[in-house]
Amino acid sequence: MTRIFSGVKPTGHLTLGNYLGAVRQWAEVDQHRADALFCVVDLHALTVDHDPGRVRRLSQQASTLLLASGLDPELCTVFVQSHVDEHARLSYLLECVATDGEMRRMIQYKEKSVRERERGGSVRLSLLTYPVLMAADILAYGADEVPVGEDQTQHVELTRDLAVRFNHRYGHTFVVPRATPPAVAARVMDLQDPTSKMGKSHDNGAGIVYLLDEPDVARKKILRAVTDSGNDVEYDPEAKPGVSNLLEILAACEGGNPQALSGVYESYGALKKAAAEAVVELLKPLQKRHKELVGDSAYVEGVLRRGAERAREMAKPTVDTAYRAIGLLPPA
Ligand code: TYM
Repeated sequence: MTRIFSGVKPTGHLTLGNYLGAVRQWAEVDQHRADALFCVVDLHALTVDHDPGRVRRLSQQASTLLLASGLDPELCTVFVQSHVDEHARLSYLLECVATDGEMRRMIQYKEKSVRERERGGSVRLSLLTYPVLMAADILAYGADEVPVGEDQTQHVELTRDLAVRFNHRYGHTFVVPRATPPAVAARVMDLQDPTSKMGKSHDNGAGIVYLLDEPDVARKKILRAVTDSGNDVEYDPEAKPGVSNLLEILAACEGGNPQALSGVYESYGALKKAAAEAVVELLKPLQKRHKELVGDSAYVEGVLRRGAERAREMAKPTVDTAYRAIGLLPPA
């Protein structure tokens, strides 16, 4: 059976980008057709300046939101990364296979390290090695597929390179995975700056729809989205990034494709209204379920406990094999 692994990082409240680019596909498709694991990757949240209490709260919230989005613990494994030691164990071995040059070429490292320095902060070593930990997340489970948005495909490429290199040097140990981004909305853009990604840790919340935004708040953000010059409602991400982003969001909500919506709306205003209503409707059931689950934290804790147990059982044999293959003496 196909094995799938993916994760979400608790560095901020989850966004419409996380949902359309990843989580929805996990819930609607992936968990039904494969042996799937979905993880709140909390160790990754420590790579930038963070408040410990906030990371804990966001991890709890992200776990609850994954379940509210429809992940069913009877169908898939939902867990928190730091509850399973195998991720950190394997990450070190992969650091012994990766090179610093490879790490420095990662686009997200370049962007985030510049941002950290501009803020007057220093860059944590873990920000540089982040993609190695991500590779460990994936390779520990022998995942064939990694459903992620477009911004993560470079990291999955690196994961493939590390798997191939390790297998070549030390004998076949890892499955070589591939990224499986969604056909539509693989890169949802910021509503106020449609040339940059809608990201949860962006400074300006006006361009980001959070999954827990009240309907009125989400609606307003979309109605105030920046659009482009001209009047024609056409899908052309180069020339019309704002309008194309709204078409992409609307198409994703409706399960269609954005090109087919070119010419359907007479004005930017009509498109914004349609997109706003579609998003509000999309988020309604998720928000309702989230409210119920917040009142049942024992259920969420139980899911995470069982998920971690299952994940540990799955990861340990592969990580143990890697320890032996690379030359470490087995414990007596
Ligand atoms: P993160 O937490 O930034 O995002 C979680 C998922 O949401 C997708 N995504 C988007 N998709 C479309 N448009 C957007 N604007 C948008 N923003 C986010 C991301 O592509 C991702 O699929 N490094 C990862 C977390 C991670 C991981 C892993 C993922 C750690 N280990 C192993 C897969 C497998 C990250 O920061 O995702």
